[in-house]
Amino acid sequence: MRKSAESAPAANGAATAIAPTKAPVGSLSRRSFLTTGLAVSAAASLGPLGHAAAALADTPSSALTTGDAAILRFLAAAELIEADLWQQYNELGGIQDSEEPGGTGSRRYTAALSKLDADMAQYIHDNTDDEISHFVFINAYLASRGAEPVDLDPFRTLPSSKATGARQIGRLTNLMELTVDTSWYTRYRSSTANPDFGDTFPQAVPGLSEGRFPAIPRDDGDLKPKDHIQAIANTAGFHFCTIEQGGTSLYPQLAQRVTDPEVLRVLLSIGPTEAMHFQTWHDKVGNAPPLTDPTNGLVFPDLNAPPLGGEQFQTNLIMPEPTIFLKRSLPACSIVRPTKTTGAAMGALKALTADGLFIGQSKAFFDAAKGLATAADAAMRGA
Ligand SMILES: [Fe+2]
Ligand SMILES: [Fe+2]
Repeated sequence: MRKSAESAPAANGAATAIAPTKAPVGSLSRRSFLTTGLAVSAAASLGPLGHAAAALADTPSSALTTGDAAILRFLAAAELIEADLWQQYNELGGIQDSEEPGGTGSRRYTAALSKLDADMAQYIHDNTDDEISHFVFINAYLASRGAEPVDLDPFRTLPSSKATGARQIGRLTNLMELTVDTSWYTRYRSSTANPDFGDTFPQAVPGLSEGRFPAIPRDDGDLKPKDHIQAIANTAGFHFCTIEQGGTSLYPQLAQRVTDPEVLRVLLSIGPTEAMHFQTWHDKVGNAPPLTDPTNGLVFPDLNAPPLGGEQFQTNLIMPEPTIFLKRSLPACSIVRPTKTTGAAMGALKALTADGLFIGQSKAFFDAAKGLATAADAAMRGA
């Protein structure tokens, strides 16, 4: 059984709230700073040979480079955010058990989600479980390499859904006012365009990208009429993909600037699980019933009909269409996109913010998150 985010904010129990505008100040970080300082002093007094020895002393196998630690810390924060939102989905629409305790479920919301697939509740549970394991592992790994884990507990201030089934605790994320970018749907179906070349892509569900919509019932009043709770479940279905395609890009983007082979192994081993999630949700969301929400006019179109549909946009075309990669002169390739590394962490933070996930969060939260992203984007391979 894994611990919940609330009961296990830091794997080593020693994390402090993040202070991203400054260097980590924990005892382990201070120790690595002192090690570096001593090595520099020795090099200065011993000449060229001393410099060579100091270079070796600078990279003990147990110490992370500043850049690797910053990349892992941003990923730990991203995983804490993912775990927080997935726990909210699981409490109302997943399977509540000893692995994912706390919620008691919402029967009507769960039934609406099951229109996308009979196993939605199981998949929501397992995605939740995976995200918790990601942040617990990355934080424990940071601590094991002498770096400070990330703790976002001070920012668990947003309200829970008031619908029956949800726990009443503070949250990091807001799933009740989402603006969902659904352009991944057309991006992964394009054979001629790639966001890394500056290309942009039309929305699959234009209405979702323009307003603010709940992806979980805000209270029991949202459980009817039938097309309203189905619209909420459909919104969740698209949001699942939006979140997981983001993770699918983020890991390869940041892996390009990692220095230590073991840190690279961590990123290369977690990243593809995000792609597994995305692929699963991409398949399910094709079953979202076309409808208009009678309470707010939100339209879920038939994705198998114009302006989508046809050979390129049919809902079962869920595997990445080969497209341009690196150079237009090279053959088309089936790839994750985007994967350009420059500014990747800040790009991910901006996308999550534009999603509406942090509506209601404090300035301190945004300052902290930006600090982590800035540090991760400053990381250079081998530096
Ligand atoms: Fe994750
Ligand atoms: Fe994920």
